[in-house]
Amino acid sequence: MSSYLITGAGGCIGAWIIKQLLDAGEQVAAFDISSDRRRLELLCDDAAEARTVAWEVGNIANADDVLRAVARFEPEAIIHLAALQVPFCKADPVLGAQVNVVGTVNIFEAAKQHNIKRVVYASSVAATAMGTQTSWLETLYGAYKVCNEQTARVYWSENGVSSVGIRPSVVYGPARDQGMSAKPTQAMLAAVAGKPFVIPFTGTVGFVYAAEAASAFIQAATKERSGAAVFDLNGTPQTVADVVKMLISHYPEADIRCEGEPLPFPADMSDRPLRAYIGDYERIDFVDGMTQTLAMFSRRLGENRIDTVFQ
Ligand SMILES: NC(=O)c1ccc[n+]([C@@H]2O[C@H](COP(=O)([O-])OP(=O)(O)OC[C@H]3O[C@@H](n4cnc5c(N)ncnc54)[C@H](O)[C@@H]3O)[C@@H](O)[C@H]2O)c1
Repeated sequence: MSSYLITGAGGCIGAWIIKQLLDAGEQVAAFDISSDRRRLELLCDDAAEARTVAWEVGNIANADDVLRAVARFEPEAIIHLAALQVPFCKADPVLGAQVNVVGTVNIFEAAKQHNIKRVVYASSVAATAMGTQTSWLETLYGAYKVCNEQTARVYWSENGVSSVGIRPSVVYGPARDQGMSAKPTQAMLAAVAGKPFVIPFTGTVGFVYAAEAASAFIQAATKERSGAAVFDLNGTPQTVADVVKMLISHYPEADIRCEGEPLPFPADMSDRPLRAYIGDYERIDFVDGMTQTLAMFSRRLGENRIDTVFQ
């Protein structure tokens, strides 16, 4: 048994990681600026299970908050997810840098001070788009993620804090409800709920089912590694138009469409280097992931457990 501290635990990937760690009988503690456990509750057949998790409310951008949580839980591994997504960084660049950049420095500083060698953190496909002189979109969010990867390298070379950075493409599945790339999941929920929905982008996207992403983060954190390696997590390349077609084949009455420009991020990165480095983790192709998503949305809607926050 190992003990894990998850930052950004109230978010989509955090909720999936916590659920999988609980199912595996591991010890898990949560850190988030919010005490809202609704995403985790959504994933639990018995919502009360979510309340069993020790939960520290704090600001990742505040070094004292982070150190307090690490001192309280003394985790063997940290999975660092707390961040603001693309639109939020664009709307408030200073806050974005405080959360995404300073927050990550706080995690590495805490890992150094508490001699924690198993640090896994979320970078993003948006980092891949930076400085490549292609048509991919450069964003402040991507710039902050690149900074995190460089920070990780220096904490390894100067302090021996080893880490694994994972760059997910577009994560989808139950509990994915905020950020631009949440739209395909919102379309799935709309199809099940019989509501119209327009996905405001097209093109090919690397779709990573949230359960697969969670499994990769956990697998990366299972043991101490050497260095500060960073890997892509692309999932299944799939056109948004095909996602719409699949939704309509499940729900012929659904009024779901996509329109606009392609999402300006690469969709054909390889997951092979990650699997080779950390060992195999759960593999869920798009058809299975979408089928599982629709089934869970349908169950939870039937139980009246889908809060407006998810709609
Ligand atoms: N979801 C994706 O498709 C995707 C793709 C690439 C990278 N990522 C990265 O993966 C990580 C998790 O993504 P997600 O989809 O679960 O995000 P999310 O937006 O669902 O959750 C982020 C969580 O971070 C918390 N948070 C925000 N500011 C905080 C602060 N100041 N202090 C503490 N907690 C704070 C939020 O309350 C939220 O619970 C993020 O780092 C994100 O950038 C996600």
